[in-house]
Amino acid sequence: MRKPLALLLASTLALTAMAQKFENLALTPPMGWNTWNTFASDIHESLIKQTADTMVANGMRDAGYVYIVIDDTWSKKQRDEQGNLVPDPAKFPSGMKALADYLHERGFKLGIYSCAGPRTCADYPGSWGHEFQDARTFAAWGIDYLKYDWCNRGNADARDAYTRIRDALYTAGRPVVLSICEWGQNKPWEWASGIGHLWRTSGDIYDSYDGRKGWEMGWKRILDLQYSLVDSIGPDGIGKYAGPGHWNDPDMLEVGNAGLSMAESRAHFSLWCILAAPLMAGNDVRHMKPEIQAILTDREVIAIDQDKLGKQGFRALAEPARAIEIWIKPLSEGDWAVCALNTGNAPADLTIDWERLWTLDRRPYQVRDLWAKRAAGDTTKPLTVRVDTHDVALFRLTPAK
Ligand code: GLA
Repeated sequence: MRKPLALLLASTLALTAMAQKFENLALTPPMGWNTWNTFASDIHESLIKQTADTMVANGMRDAGYVYIVIDDTWSKKQRDEQGNLVPDPAKFPSGMKALADYLHERGFKLGIYSCAGPRTCADYPGSWGHEFQDARTFAAWGIDYLKYDWCNRGNADARDAYTRIRDALYTAGRPVVLSICEWGQNKPWEWASGIGHLWRTSGDIYDSYDGRKGWEMGWKRILDLQYSLVDSIGPDGIGKYAGPGHWNDPDMLEVGNAGLSMAESRAHFSLWCILAAPLMAGNDVRHMKPEIQAILTDREVIAIDQDKLGKQGFRALAEPARAIEIWIKPLSEGDWAVCALNTGNAPADLTIDWERLWTLDRRPYQVRDLWAKRAAGDTTKPLTVRVDTHDVALFRLTPAK
């Protein structure tokens, strides 16, 4: 009797120690790059290596984008005879361990994709019934991040399915960021903290301002959805479920992709930072315009997203008649971020009347315009700024001395 009890105790202690290691992996929203939005199934190890090399050279890695994530379609269509996942040798001829080593040597972490169902969304093997085996495989390869999807899962309970893969990762013993991708269907904000580090809140994004293509939505629609999710569960909204180690995920970035204007890319990035969203670039960083690179690597804007307080921002004002929305986010040290979006179809002078942002306390704040890179007075009087269609003005407010 005594030996099994001791063993049980030892394994419980080991899992508790592993849980603590997992807890600290995403104290700010994860940042990185993911293959899906631009490349879908057209992936290859040379693309991953070139992307990583580019991200070193262009400053993205040093700005915080360290997770390089290979999305769906990376494996062979079938498992091997032992039931193992096998990388597609045409796409990853050197194997995943070699790729992980390449990335680790350059200061990156490697992410991979699987699914709670027996097949992934693109019809490759999923981890259903192989959770512990796959977690061991991922640990052996040196995987640091797992995006875990929700196609073909039958009538599985989402909480059980994601707890199972989390426990499999704990048992495999390598700390892994777990990205829950069940599209908000089972209200993951209510149960997923402590299981995964981030959870999708909606269907898929595509490179559009507010378009809709079946399952895919433009970023403004996803932004609006965050707000209606907020409405549906009360005034504090789903934002209250986000915090260090557990984040709402409104999906990856389309910044720099063809369907967005420069203004729409800038606004999308700014508002994702206001939401404390994970920042997973989804463009071809090897061939991006300098203006897009400047958006993605702007330290002052990234600091809004990565603020250590870890509070998600919210919409403080929406006036369709004036074509303006104002989103705000509390920051550490009593600072605030304020983002004014021009929702109209023409450039406009937007007036920000600080007094109407009821959440700000009444003290004057000094205002810095983050994209214009200049001081913009203080909050004692309204500020009027010219903002392009679908663009934003983004400010950091600091209590006046
Ligand atoms: C789902 C996910 C996407 C992507 C694809 C891959 O649609 O939501 O982000 O991973 O599957 O097939």
